[in-house]
Amino acid sequence: MAKTKEQIRAEMKKLAAEYADLDRQEKLNTEKKYIPASGKNLGAEELANMIDASLDMWLTAGRFNNEFEKSFANKLGEKYAMTCNSGSSANLLAMSALTSPILGKDALKKGDEVISVAAGFPTTVTPIIQNGLVPVFVDSEIGTYNIKIEDIEPAISPKTRAIFLAHTLGNMYDMDAIMDIAARHNLFVIEDSCDALGAKWNDKYAGTIGNIGTFSFYPAHHITMGEGGAVITNNPKIRKAVLSFRDWGRDCYCNPGTDNTCHKRFDLQYGALPHGYDHKYVYSNIGYNLKVTDWQAAIGLAQLGKLDSFLDMRRKNAEVLNKNLADLQDYLILPKIADKCTPSWFGYLISVKPEAPFTKQEMVPYLEQNGIGTRNLFAGNILRQPILKNNDVAVRVGNGPVQNSRDLTEADYVKLPGADFIMHNTFWVGVAQNNTTQDMEKTSSVIHDFINQKTR
Ligand SMILES: Cc1ncc(COP(=O)(O)O)c(C=O)c1O
Repeated sequence: MAKTKEQIRAEMKKLAAEYADLDRQEKLNTEKKYIPASGKNLGAEELANMIDASLDMWLTAGRFNNEFEKSFANKLGEKYAMTCNSGSSANLLAMSALTSPILGKDALKKGDEVISVAAGFPTTVTPIIQNGLVPVFVDSEIGTYNIKIEDIEPAISPKTRAIFLAHTLGNMYDMDAIMDIAARHNLFVIEDSCDALGAKWNDKYAGTIGNIGTFSFYPAHHITMGEGGAVITNNPKIRKAVLSFRDWGRDCYCNPGTDNTCHKRFDLQYGALPHGYDHKYVYSNIGYNLKVTDWQAAIGLAQLGKLDSFLDMRRKNAEVLNKNLADLQDYLILPKIADKCTPSWFGYLISVKPEAPFTKQEMVPYLEQNGIGTRNLFAGNILRQPILKNNDVAVRVGNGPVQNSRDLTEADYVKLPGADFIMHNTFWVGVAQNNTTQDMEKTSSVIHDFINQKTR
């Protein structure tokens, strides 16, 4: 008897899972020559889900995306999760949403200011600029590599409307202090949690304490979709604005492939359009198309089921480094964590002390040559990057005046000594779920070898 579609689907998923298990075994049996700073960990569930999504032939966001958005919001204890095609897009959506007419008089206007830091990832800052807002750069502290809380209030002006910061490599900034400042100055808070999925401040997840949280599912991150991201919020207006900006700027909020969710598709009046103009073609925000496909969501859904085990592995790996490197603190600064924070390590940050008899510039190539992957804390001091030298961007540094970024000079850069220190002295090594305890032992022993040679 001919097989049914369901039987074929089940067989294909089973075969895919078998293939993934074999592939995984083969990789485990291959000796690792290089310990990567980050990396994905995919298996049978992800491949089976990809096959499942392929057989649906739905292509755009569909049943897997619906399930992912629901499960992701549930996992974090937030009302709404909206997927998108990257963490950078999530940041762009979050910032854009705060400028939407949907927010009425609360919406941010061109020229309003947003508190940020210079030592971080560029696309935490660029959405501020892309929305015609002014980034206000505050310095970072060494050890947590998060914003210097005491420098925030002096930098706030009557135009300041929001705080938009990343939890650096999974180590959360002081949410009590940030929310207190935000409440007193009536500021929105966007938590860029792209590197901090699963981190907690007391019992609340990163991304759920401020007004909006953003996440990245690029392979280096805690869970992956290949490319992907998400925005979370409890605020229905912000949700509506995010969906609109994500989906071409449209007013309609039907899922792909569905119509008339609002039951008023041909009944209302919008702008100067004819009465009853099809709501599917009404546009109310200056939007983009930043949606995911259902394959991406299918992979993400399988990964979400593994998040807690990935977090355990990352914490265990960081603990091994904490223990093994503790004797090197005359030369190195190891990560500092706030009491209320349970980090979800993206990477393990190390700074070379200025008084050490070697530099980061000597140490990093040694680690790389000896099989230990390293990364910078992204842009270092972003004020020094060509992005600001080559473009006319209105910026403020600390409590200074608004100025054109092309006019920034050394005198401005050094107003952020923490960011400069991070650029010169700080790097990170991998603790991701694809790295084992043995990998951490190797990382520590290569670091010891280097320092032994330099201090003999
Ligand atoms: C803090 C932070 N925000 C945003 C992003 C952007 O994420 P994506 O690469 O998915 O665009 C990254 C990337 O790693 C990041 O580290």
